[in-house]
Amino acid sequence: MRHVTSSSQFTKEHLKDLFALATELKQNPSRYGQSLSGKVVATLFYEPSTRTRLSFESAIQRLGASLISTENAKEVSSAVKGESLSDTIRIVEGYAEAIVMRHHENDAAYEASKIAAVPIINAGGGSGEHPTQSLLDCFTIYEQRFSLDKLSIAVIGDLRYGRTVHSLVKMLSLFDDLTVYGVSLPGLELSEEYIHYIEEHGGRFISCRSLQGVPSDVDVLYQTRTQRERMSVAEGEVQEIIIDQHVLDRFEKHTIVLHPLPRNQEIAPEVDHDPRALYFEQAKNGMWVRMALLYMLLKENH
Ligand code: NCD
Repeated sequence: MRHVTSSSQFTKEHLKDLFALATELKQNPSRYGQSLSGKVVATLFYEPSTRTRLSFESAIQRLGASLISTENAKEVSSAVKGESLSDTIRIVEGYAEAIVMRHHENDAAYEASKIAAVPIINAGGGSGEHPTQSLLDCFTIYEQRFSLDKLSIAVIGDLRYGRTVHSLVKMLSLFDDLTVYGVSLPGLELSEEYIHYIEEHGGRFISCRSLQGVPSDVDVLYQTRTQRERMSVAEGEVQEIIIDQHVLDRFEKHTIVLHPLPRNQEIAPEVDHDPRALYFEQAKNGMWVRMALLYMLLKENH
């Protein structure tokens, strides 16, 4: 694999290798401190980010590579002066051995990958995909269950605009006997494209209007934020499906709660103290998984 633009590019074999390396990096980070020394990685972010950008930047530096970064490229890069994305990519590829990019257009990373001489990593594209998030989501589930087969997961909230769910259901579709409960309010349902993807790959998709429709022994509750920045004001006035302690109490001991974060009010803060709430651990895993990915991409290419 040269570029990472969609989670559908990954095979089970890739994930096995990546999770093994992420586990090793998590246990023995100091062994890898010079792995990418002499290399430069660029982070080019046209949309806001805390976790994704900082975990990539920490990953880059923990592997001994150097970093060049523009965190608010929509406002401060030459995009303001009218430069096209392809011209920007042609310039940045001359300065770095890889480009990690987040963009407001769904296909921007894919378009960049068609012209870039260095690996492009999609760190979130509009309301389309966020493949490196699904790597850390799957890794976090894998750490709990040691397998992604026979998984049942409820994806909750804004399934229409939430790119993390799009990439996650595609990646989970690689595995056997997948059941996805889509819990969303009217207008925010998962689009047919992703439902087909799950079903074509042998999984089941069950649509629900509330968490009451999800069996109490589900393996994962994957909560998400309403992506108001991608909606009109009227559209954004939707209610939230909230997980509080009372809601969580109905689920079994093995049911874990994940969220790509940032959260608004869709997970009550009281839930943070429940041992099943793994979203902070999940966010931290982002760094190990992104280290593993950068290591694999940049070692393979040199
Ligand atoms: C997500 C994103 O940017 O899509 N955040 C993240 O990368 N962890 C989710 C979100 O913004 O709601």
